Amino acid sequence: MKVVKSKIELKQEIYKAKQENKIIGFVPTMGYLHEGHLSLIREAKKECDYIVVSIFVNPKQFNSEEDLKKYPRDYERDLNLLEKEAIDLVFMPEIEEIYPEDPKIFIDMPSLTNKLCGIHRPGHFQGVLLVVLKLFHLVEPNKAYFGKKDYQQYKIIKQMVKDLDMDIEVIGCPLIREDSGIALSSRNARLSNKGYSDAQLIYRALQIAKKEWLKGETKPETLKEIIKDIIETGSLNRVEYIEIVDPENLENVKEAKEGDIIAVAVYTENVRLIDNIELNREDI
Ligand code: PAJ
Repeated sequence: MKVVKSKIELKQEIYKAKQENKIIGFVPTMGYLHEGHLSLIREAKKECDYIVVSIFVNPKQFNSEEDLKKYPRDYERDLNLLEKEAIDLVFMPEIEEIYPEDPKIFIDMPSLTNKLCGIHRPGHFQGVLLVVLKLFHLVEPNKAYFGKKDYQQYKIIKQMVKDLDMDIEVIGCPLIREDSGIALSSRNARLSNKGYSDAQLIYRALQIAKKEWLKGETKPETLKEIIKDIIETGSLNRVEYIEIVDPENLENVKEAKEGDIIAVAVYTENVRLIDNIELNREDI
């Protein structure tokens, strides 16, 4: 496994891999890796023969200095985990390498970014779009892997690639949970024991709403109310949003139907957690 920090070294390695006709699979991350990230890497390994992982805590997608500062980092642990996955290349740039000067370009996709998380985190998706576009140009992957835990992010990146005719296949991978049901997230590390047990209510609430939908309840307002009531029994939980959306355009639906996504954002102890569930007839 090769670890590079500069764009020039990265490009040299990519050039070599391309010369050997390798199929390049790319997994962009912000580090503090967990099984969710590793699941993307394992998916990439099934389909590609040269795997690149980036670790870069992108300042442009954070809404506050405090959140950026508090974002957990442990590069040594990350590199050990990646070594075990036997990937080919890790790109770990410093901030100045990616942003030697403040970029003047601004990328947006209002119809998808002005919804869900985008309403509550102004500038967040614009920062994600910018860094992912830059990383795509640098890594030139054939396939790129994103988790459906960040469902809106996955859709936005997929749309960007389509709109800009980029020759990259964007692959959405399943959301990975702990046994407790909590969606794996680097931010979980900031929860206390009490916060952690309150956070478990989030998935439980989504499951109960899905069961009600399976029994025939299709009114978004009723399903949302059920979820809110359960989540807020946790004294540390504060709901930011609960929405039921069409998976294609992320518009709120008037009636919950098969394939729709229930997406939530909840603050537990000042840690922002997001989760979602797809309405389908699979076992829950
Ligand atoms: P990060 O939060 O580190 O996540 C990197 C990738 O891992 C994303 O595609 C995310 O959806 C996926 N992921 C995180 N938790 C997951 C889980 N529990 N199950 C499945 N996949 C999961 O998302 C980002 O970084 C950044 O916005 C990035 C795309 C790297 C741009 O800076």
